Amino acid sequence: MSLLDVRDLTVRFPTVKGPVLAVDGLSYHLEPGEIVSLVGESGCGKSVGIQTLLGLQGPRAKISGSARFDGEELLGASERKLTSIRGKQMACVFQDPMSSLNPVVTVGKQVAEVLRRHRGLSASKARLRVIDLFERVGIPAPAQRYSAYPHEMSGGMRQRVMIAMAIACEPRLLLADEPTTALDVTIQAGILELLKELRESTGMAVLLVTHDLGVVADIADRVIVMYAGRKVEEAGVRALFNDPQHQYTRLLLEAIPRRGTRSGGEDRRLRGIPGTVPTLYDSPDACTFAGRCPIASDRCRTERPGFTEVVAGQAVACWNPGDRPTVTGTGAGR
Ligand SMILES: Nc1ncnc2c1ncn2[C@@H]1O[C@H](COP(=O)(O)OP(=O)(O)O)[C@@H](O)[C@H]1O
Ligand SMILES: [Mg+2]
Repeated sequence: MSLLDVRDLTVRFPTVKGPVLAVDGLSYHLEPGEIVSLVGESGCGKSVGIQTLLGLQGPRAKISGSARFDGEELLGASERKLTSIRGKQMACVFQDPMSSLNPVVTVGKQVAEVLRRHRGLSASKARLRVIDLFERVGIPAPAQRYSAYPHEMSGGMRQRVMIAMAIACEPRLLLADEPTTALDVTIQAGILELLKELRESTGMAVLLVTHDLGVVADIADRVIVMYAGRKVEEAGVRALFNDPQHQYTRLLLEAIPRRGTRSGGEDRRLRGIPGTVPTLYDSPDACTFAGRCPIASDRCRTERPGFTEVVAGQAVACWNPGDRPTVTGTGAGR
């Protein structure tokens, strides 16, 4: 049994223009100790997919499918059950730590509160444990920092506080939604290193959402590529980078600026690929990427491709997997 088993997850939001199909039949699994990365351009349903697992979609969201954590269904589970799973076994870190921290409570106390609530620790024991956690996530002078307020810390330190809070109860799964996007490269590298260390020392699995393929290359074991709410490719990190089977993956990889061309953090980020993401109002009987795909055929415009394994461990939703455009030099955003 997988640690996390998501099957055919579909999330729609009713809007004035009609229902937005944010996540369209997404299936994936995560094994203990694995680091899996969910990548794709902005708006492709990464965050909605994660938030749905945590029960964080409002009542207007129409959710179907299944998401089992250690065999237990998360979708439609009671708030009480979700709260207990969220605190102890499945933790999350989001992009903006400021919005998740209480501005009027010291950071140490906020993390201590989690331990008191979920682990029943006394105030003094919780304090010691928090200082220990702060040290572990690389917060200097942890005993002093315990009494700092969020606004007294830098973005990187606040994100470390969020990670300390997330790992306080030694979760088996960490859901991290762009945890380093707002941070500069050095701090980002430190946090990724920390996630790897935690995986080694505790066996924690990580589902890491990012649009930064440099981060993916650095940390992921396996990668899920999403496009317009759907999974279009899934592969081990090496296979994905060496031999992408979907045109979207290929173009994403070609859109990464080469290392060393400029200094600074923007270097390894996506430059974008030609065309625009289709509106998510309907689920066409077609490949959603057909409109941007350099090798699209008639079939791609009329029939939705199923998700099939092309080589062991590498699967793709494409009618022409692995094909290359005949004219070279097109499509890539260089
Ligand atoms: N509450 C909502 N109501 C309507 N549409 C939403 C809502 N939340 C997200 N969406 C839409 O769902 C799509 C996926 O969003 P999101 O998961 O945040 O993308 P990503 O994290 O990949 O950038 C986007 O088109 C977004 O506008
Ligand atoms: Mg997002």
